[in-house]
Amino acid sequence: MIEELYTKEQVELRERARELAETAIRPVAAKHDVEQTFPWEVHEAIREAGLSGVWIPKEYGGMGGGVLDLCLVVEEFSRACGAMGVGFAVNALGSFPILLSGTEEQKKRWLPPIASGEKMISFGLSEKDAGSDAASMKTRAVKEGDHYILNGEKKWNTGGAIASYNTIFAVTDPERGARGISGLVVEKGMEGYEVGKHEDKMGIRAIPVVEIHFKDCKVPEENLLGGVENQGFKQAMMTLDRARPGVAAQAVGLAQGALDLAIEYTGKRRQFGQTISSFQGIQWMLAEMGTQIEAARALVHYAARAIDSGHKNITKLSAMCKLMATDTAMRVTTDCVQLFGGYGYCKDYPIEKYMRDAKITQIYEGTNQIQKLVIGRSLLREAANK
Ligand code: CAA
Repeated sequence: MIEELYTKEQVELRERARELAETAIRPVAAKHDVEQTFPWEVHEAIREAGLSGVWIPKEYGGMGGGVLDLCLVVEEFSRACGAMGVGFAVNALGSFPILLSGTEEQKKRWLPPIASGEKMISFGLSEKDAGSDAASMKTRAVKEGDHYILNGEKKWNTGGAIASYNTIFAVTDPERGARGISGLVVEKGMEGYEVGKHEDKMGIRAIPVVEIHFKDCKVPEENLLGGVENQGFKQAMMTLDRARPGVAAQAVGLAQGALDLAIEYTGKRRQFGQTISSFQGIQWMLAEMGTQIEAARALVHYAARAIDSGHKNITKLSAMCKLMATDTAMRVTTDCVQLFGGYGYCKDYPIEKYMRDAKITQIYEGTNQIQKLVIGRSLLREAANK
């Protein structure tokens, strides 16, 4: 990253995030990966460093940063551990609907504890049979007096087991498809709210991904996002437009972290009487990876800047940066395992974890096939409007 292209505050923010990643995250990354446990000590360290609410406006207790600031931090955390990168970023995913669509009262109620790190929030859109086709969800919210009664199940809820708040999307008007979905902030401890199955995952093992079950769960009407029904699908899509660069930044961090390790390893590993990095074939691999990472980072930051500038047409760029950065992460981390040879395939070295953590970035917050659909539709719409 060329520092001159960023503000003094952004350079300082990145340095703070990098220092925390090296001192608090990297030393415990392997342990939590093996044990599949949430790193509460890292959560505390992030709180103490004052980084919990990077993307939350100052009036709600945050640092007042934008999506670019969020991406700088997520990249640094993910360079040390992809799971801890997403464990942080998922709070932005869960809180963006409140920031974008919440009433003033809702913002004042839920954002300050998230900004301070006292509470965490997750995002519940997907269901067992409603993944890419998010609008086909079945979870139902029925208004009864001054409450909504929620019934159904959410799947792939990242951070749901440890979050105090969960932004849930549910059907309020079954006749209207995508136009009959509403957003509700459901709070841990509400009657009928239960954390279900914990997934046993290939990667990002330090962050719990769970099912959330609602059995006649009573949610007060004040928790309806923005106080309006049937706006939920748009609220979720607008959220994903702003959150996907965070996944892309996680991918850039994973790729960079893997490349750093590969450069170090190939500079020490000797075969045929010389370090393997002195072979042109290896240098070409390093060169390709370094170039792909810079290109991915540039697109992520370009998309993040477009979002922060208030640009209207961010859907395409957001999907493009997610697609490119996450495909880059998968390619780079796989090639880095290759550079470590047999050692790369074993858990004695940290490199295989990068490859496992990278895979999910091509899947969550919209598979890369869905990103291509979003990009393709945007290109055709732009051409039709010329
Ligand atoms: N911004 C604002 N509005 C949008 C929008 C956007 N980006 N995208 C769509 N909309 C609006 C449309 O304008 C349309 O509105 P009208 O009815 O008023 O015309 C409405 O939403 C429906 O849009 P579509 O007809 O395009 O909807 P669709 O059913 O064809 O689906 C899709 C579109 C892009 C495929 C969408 O379903 C999608 O993004 N799917 C992937 C879902 C996803 O990313 N899930 C990940 C969940 S989070 C996660 O991974 C877990 C985690 O915890 C990390």
